[in-house]
Amino acid sequence: MKTILVAGGAGYIGSHMVAELHDKGYDVVVADNLCTGHRGAVTHGTLCVGDVRDGEFLDRVFTEHKIDGVINFAAFSLVGESCTDPLKYYGNNVAGAVSMLGAMRRHGVDKIVFSSTAATYGEPEKQPIDELDRTCPTNPYGETKLAIEKMLHWCDAAYGIKFAALRYFNAAGANNAAGIGEDHSPESHLIPIVLQVALGKREHIGIFGDDYPTRDGTCIRDYVDVRDLASAHLLALEFLDREKTSGVFNLGSGNGFSVREIIEAARKVTGHPIPAKVAPRRAGDPSTLIASNRRAVEILGWKPRHSGLDDIIGSAWNWHQSHPDGYAE
Ligand code: NAD
Ligand code: UFG
Repeated sequence: MKTILVAGGAGYIGSHMVAELHDKGYDVVVADNLCTGHRGAVTHGTLCVGDVRDGEFLDRVFTEHKIDGVINFAAFSLVGESCTDPLKYYGNNVAGAVSMLGAMRRHGVDKIVFSSTAATYGEPEKQPIDELDRTCPTNPYGETKLAIEKMLHWCDAAYGIKFAALRYFNAAGANNAAGIGEDHSPESHLIPIVLQVALGKREHIGIFGDDYPTRDGTCIRDYVDVRDLASAHLLALEFLDREKTSGVFNLGSGNGFSVREIIEAARKVTGHPIPAKVAPRRAGDPSTLIASNRRAVEILGWKPRHSGLDDIIGSAWNWHQSHPDGYAE
């Protein structure tokens, strides 16, 4: 495979994918409407600005470039917003995937790696979570991703389009060598918010609930480095090429950290006090999400290399210090 279309490649995880593909010698075409992404995040390849729901736009991209495989990051992903405006999420995430699969069919492209999420599991039955555990999302965002996974299954059966659905746990970290990192506005993720407090851009971090059934009462999550996510996508593309079969894979480090543990680790890494205040629970938050990454390790041959907590917070901290206003566009 030579040329990969990265939909949503101007976003946080997608831009790290573009850098990884370039490093590994692939040609990259990015399709992104820049609704949450940044021009400055696309360090390599050709950026085609347009909406993946626009079939004519995709036809132009597939005609102008000989695409061998697709990685689709393009989606909305704010859990809270998906509860207040579910049609926005079905309208972009599901319709975008329908449009992309239609274009792949029209242009004879039969491999796709898809950004799924731990939010497909909802409130898990057990920890660590494996791919055969019950999927019962607690919010529309997770529902849209599960609906797309099911659609991918039927498109494989009917059209022979092979897919890898990668269920990411909590993406964090940055690629400072490539000058890229996380810049969401508004920012909702714990680690960048904690680092904005360290930078003096916010007064304190609110801890969303300290009465969960966990070791210190705060929610436990599995934080996985964004460069490790990118390397897993490349392995998934190789898997599709080699095995000619589809699969669903968790991508997490296999370790869980509480909100308080993240704040404490960030205090050590940054040397800043990072004031914290307990706030009410956030609707829809499961108490604990920890991945079993056994399938990705054994079947894809994935080795998370940067997903130690201090590495993740350290790389994110470097990015925040060197880019206090993000991409400042
Ligand atoms: P992001 O918002 O930074 O990136 C999404 C990109 O897609 C942006 O560049 C945006 O402009 C683009 N986009 C959105 N809709 C589009 C459309 N209709 N047409 C063209 N481009 C469009 O998000 P992210 O944090 O990088 O997440 C990437 C993917 O990973 C998403 O699908 C998200 O649901 C999934 N995911 C993220 C996390 C996480 O922790 N960040 C966890 C699980 C799953
Ligand atoms: N949190 C706080 N204060 C904040 C922000 C977050 O206490 O200011 C807490 C949250 O309540 C949660 C934890 O920190 O317990 C992590 O929250 P994030 O918003 O960083 O991440 P989520 O676990 O809610 O969601 C992320 C992605 C989703 C994905 C999910 C899968 O944003 O797309 O991981 O695990 F579905």
